[in-house]
Amino acid sequence: MGENRAMTRPVYRIAPSILSADFARLGEQVRAVIAAGADWVHFDVMDNHYVPNLTFGPMVLQAIKPHARDGAGSPALLDVHMMARPVDALAQAFAQAGAGLISFHPEASGHPHRSVQAIKAAGCQAGLAFNPATPLDALDWLIDDIDLILVMSVNPGFGGQSFIDSALRTIEAARRRIDACGRDIRLEVDGGINPANIRRVADAGADTFVAGSAIFSQPDYAQVIAHMRQALAA
Ligand code: DX5
Ligand code: ZN
Repeated sequence: MGENRAMTRPVYRIAPSILSADFARLGEQVRAVIAAGADWVHFDVMDNHYVPNLTFGPMVLQAIKPHARDGAGSPALLDVHMMARPVDALAQAFAQAGAGLISFHPEASGHPHRSVQAIKAAGCQAGLAFNPATPLDALDWLIDDIDLILVMSVNPGFGGQSFIDSALRTIEAARRRIDACGRDIRLEVDGGINPANIRRVADAGADTFVAGSAIFSQPDYAQVIAHMRQALAA
């Protein structure tokens, strides 16, 4: 079971979203945020169809991969959040480019079960992402196969939005599903997270926290991440 909550306190993961980084200096920004204490690097893929914004693809992921290492040279997990179609073909490309974990929105795939299997066959962990008003129904069929549930606490497409409180109920429901299933599944929350609300999100059952603007808008990334960890430890 390794890191799961059943033991005592969960092992929390902070996953800065480079959506809010300076795109002209991505490699440097990835190195800086890992040096500042980030565990994962969250990579938001938007296609201007599934969501109304356009970001980056597998070539950019491949370019930042050598930068996603800590001072000792250990690689940080590249956490790809696909808000894009076609899911299976893109997942294959991101796996080849160096993704460690790939999450997708089940409604973006014609065949979510096949997509999960395709991600795993490509050697990555698989996650399912749920928008603020999307029911968790896909878990009925897929919870035995996935490594992560990603609960969106904003509508996908843009950084810098405010946390939607109803996501707390979704997080609680997802936590119940994970505990009932007994598998070691991470519960990641994405959107509007900052040092002031991260504790509430953890109390609802999350163990992995995406934060974009809260980190990259500040001059001192290490200080923001330290404040988040202090809130989690309190
Ligand atoms: C939104 C993205 C998020 C976003 C988080 O579609 O999935 O990862 O960048 O950014 P903040 O923390 O600014 O809400
Ligand atoms: Zn995201």
